[in-house]
Amino acid sequence: MKIIYVLALLISLQMSSVGAETLPANQPDKEMFIAHLLGEMTLEEKVGQLTMSYDTEHAKKPELFRLISAGQTGAIIGTLSRAAGRELQDVAVQHTRLKIPLFFGFDVIHGYRTIFPIDLGLAASWDVDAIATSARIAAQEASADGVDMTFAPMVDISRDPRWGRVAESFGEDTYLVSRIAEVVVSAFQGPLPIASDRIMACVKHFALYGAVEGGRDYNSVDMSPVQMYQNYLPPFQAAFGAGADSVMIALNSINGVPATSNVWLLQEVLRREWRFNGMTLGDFGGISQLVDHGVAANRREASGEAIRAGLDMSLGDPFYGVELEGLVKSGETSQTQIDNAVRNVLATKYDMGLFDDPYRRLGRASEDPSEIDAESRLHRSQARDVARKTLVLLKNKDKLLPLKKHGTIALIGPLAKNPVDMLGSWSARGVASQVVTVYDGLATALGNQGSLLYAQGANVTDSTEVIDYLGDALVIDPRPETAMIDEAVKAAAQADVVVAVLGESKGMSGEAASRTSLDLPGRQSQLLTALKATGKPLVLVLMNGRPLSVGAEQDQADAVLETWFSGTEGGNAIADVLFGDYNPSGKLPITFPRSVGQIPSYYNHLNTGRPFVPGHSRTFSSLYYDQLDGPLYPFGYGLSYTDFSLSDVTLSTTALSRDGALDASVRVKNTGQRDGATVVQLYIQQVLGSISRPVKELKGFQKIRLKAGEEKTVHFTVDEDSLKFYNAELKYVAEPGAFNLQIGLDSQYVKQRSFQLL
Ligand code: BGC
Repeated sequence: MKIIYVLALLISLQMSSVGAETLPANQPDKEMFIAHLLGEMTLEEKVGQLTMSYDTEHAKKPELFRLISAGQTGAIIGTLSRAAGRELQDVAVQHTRLKIPLFFGFDVIHGYRTIFPIDLGLAASWDVDAIATSARIAAQEASADGVDMTFAPMVDISRDPRWGRVAESFGEDTYLVSRIAEVVVSAFQGPLPIASDRIMACVKHFALYGAVEGGRDYNSVDMSPVQMYQNYLPPFQAAFGAGADSVMIALNSINGVPATSNVWLLQEVLRREWRFNGMTLGDFGGISQLVDHGVAANRREASGEAIRAGLDMSLGDPFYGVELEGLVKSGETSQTQIDNAVRNVLATKYDMGLFDDPYRRLGRASEDPSEIDAESRLHRSQARDVARKTLVLLKNKDKLLPLKKHGTIALIGPLAKNPVDMLGSWSARGVASQVVTVYDGLATALGNQGSLLYAQGANVTDSTEVIDYLGDALVIDPRPETAMIDEAVKAAAQADVVVAVLGESKGMSGEAASRTSLDLPGRQSQLLTALKATGKPLVLVLMNGRPLSVGAEQDQADAVLETWFSGTEGGNAIADVLFGDYNPSGKLPITFPRSVGQIPSYYNHLNTGRPFVPGHSRTFSSLYYDQLDGPLYPFGYGLSYTDFSLSDVTLSTTALSRDGALDASVRVKNTGQRDGATVVQLYIQQVLGSISRPVKELKGFQKIRLKAGEEKTVHFTVDEDSLKFYNAELKYVAEPGAFNLQIGLDSQYVKQRSFQLL
């Protein structure tokens, strides 16, 4: 009887509240609906909702069906197709007592079928519309294959390029990452994540994962509260503000307490301070790892600690399912704690529209694509357009670039013709055979007007340790290194210009891919030296997932273009820029240090008591005496094929009142011969504060496009809020006094004016 009642209730509530895709979830109905459903559930059924299980394609599939039909799993990660998802959903909604639908999660990070540039590259566009396009298309493609939730955006502030996951990040700056987080969440979800062509964003990794000691993945984090609040936590608040209603909890510990069981983080900060009422999802194996962290004796204790801290759903370990019932029965975990977690999981399903239609994104069999990887399912033109906006021109001596589309080009390098690496880490359902390599892109652009020679020149690594670690992800040419270099030099000697595509393979950055060195791996540097010796004009195209310390290579190359891992259409996008069909406009979202020893090298550091001031004595200053001070390329840096000039800054007032606003403006002129785009960046420094304040902080940016000769005034508004920071008592305040306001086209070369906050 009861079951029939619940089902009737489900139907009536759903009909009235979520009938159409566009209807917003009506809160009272939602709460009533979930309360009734919760009231019908046994403890076992509740616990079952709190596990996300892995969809293993083969041997363990029957086990997955068993788990679902026994009501022991609430969600699935990794299902490959909508047909496969439907099979699983059928079990949940046909063979379980309450017919609660599953949801399907997946790592849709920078594209799904069409792969866009890695996130670090997307951030380099500083183009929020382009980034939104990439996320919207990713959502369309993923939802069309049955995905309901993505474990993205990753908003970890990443200041240490040794950490492989900088590739997945939007870089080092809190303001930039926060703005991108908002845009990506909105693009994934739309106004509400209920529409069938949108997916829910699960923002990650909460929190501070980007600050693992030494950049070594999964390492511990030790951080002052001011640093957390000021720099590492705001992007999460931004993502929640934009509507993200689920969050993945980091695997690292924070000042000794793992995030997974961190009551302060999950309750004080997340729920009480920020009033987050969505779902918390553990990262892969997070609960069992509490044993390895040494804070739980066994998996039973680990499960108890995690649920008491407020971890709603576990991912990648089955211990909630095994332990929670016993913990409730023994009184170690309360029924309320379980109910709270289940409520959050059910609310997530409700918000995704799954109670209304469990097949919302899985669709009907009759509508399945006949070919899952069909070319027609890709969004190539958007991928090409976005990718070219992410490329950063780092050097262009004597305007070697753009190249002419005739003559002979020698294309050299282990990454020049390699479709797998172009995809970068977390490439979802991207298919390597659909990738346009640099070779393909240049060959198409040249047509029969010029000729293209190719030689690999070197392997991407010659280290047996790296080869063993990366395994099959690397294709190693067994020829002797000297033979490969000789072949490349021969090709270069016959060419008018040499384009060397060097960097990292896809597996060299990403999760579990931390490095102790930022050098070009293997013999690639020697290859470049040999190419330079031919005397031919030399273009270095970098492909990598982190800043590399390429000072020596920069000196050898006449031009350097940073291309990250640029995705399905990367080769066409790179060709567009190399030949000048697109004028590069990317800017670095992360500092490139001169060497690994300079880390940390982020731009918004404190001044210290003994800062090094160029032109003054170096002795007893805060610097490394064996290297030039400052970065190889600063945050915000990137060149264009045209030139831009910046006027002095005009301020509407130099005395800003608390309720007022200050307008800061500059005239930007395209003084070159080509149309182009650039990013005008606003930085502010609080000169004197109750605690030491950064030398500058990004507070605004605008990407503008100017025709050759065109001039435009760019305005920024500064108010009290722009000047707020967390003081020693963690109060968010703006202190009166002097501020330096700087506007520039990168973080280093800026025009400055000062003003006072009254
Ligand atoms: C990663 C997460 C990812 C999860 C699921 C974990 O190892 O840390 O970022 O979302 O796996 O694939």
